[in-house]
Amino acid sequence: MQPIFLIGFMGCGKSTIGSELADSLSLTYIDTDQLIENNLGCTIPQIFETEGEEAFRNYESRALKQSITANIISTGGGIIKRSENIKFMKDNGKIVYLQTSFSNISARLKNDPSRPLWESNDLDDKINLYEQRLPIYEQCANYIIKTDHRSVDEIVQEIKVLLNL
Ligand code: S3P
Repeated sequence: MQPIFLIGFMGCGKSTIGSELADSLSLTYIDTDQLIENNLGCTIPQIFETEGEEAFRNYESRALKQSITANIISTGGGIIKRSENIKFMKDNGKIVYLQTSFSNISARLKNDPSRPLWESNDLDDKINLYEQRLPIYEQCANYIIKTDHRSVDEIVQEIKVLLNL
């Protein structure tokens, strides 16, 4: 089967939903953030702190290419920042966007220290980042799934039905 790439803003549930979806179908699963941390032996906040965002984006593009041995792939929220990543996902699989409202994202993340681009921004910057990215997620997705007020099981079920899994 073609890989399925889960995209969406930080905190929309890509990792939880991706691993549940994979488990429920006995498929293989990779999370690109996890892959970066495993490859480098350090955490994402450490990479941002010592090498900066640009270096992180290079590791991310590399991890994305490595990930396609898996059936279900959860990506980092900023994967769509590089058009080469979007092209890679479009050329190699199906893209599912998990769409979550800003208020739910905010409630979930609060001041999450594991997400440097969330933690270090004030409210206006967080809103700007969300509004900048939303149309990009929408444009590149093959499928859009709304996640607000829905359980993980419901979302997993909807993905299975939509993609005929
Ligand atoms: C980022 C999202 C994070 C992680 C990094 C940068 C972003 O992944 O890749 O902190 O730019 O939105 P999650 O979307 O899994 O939080």
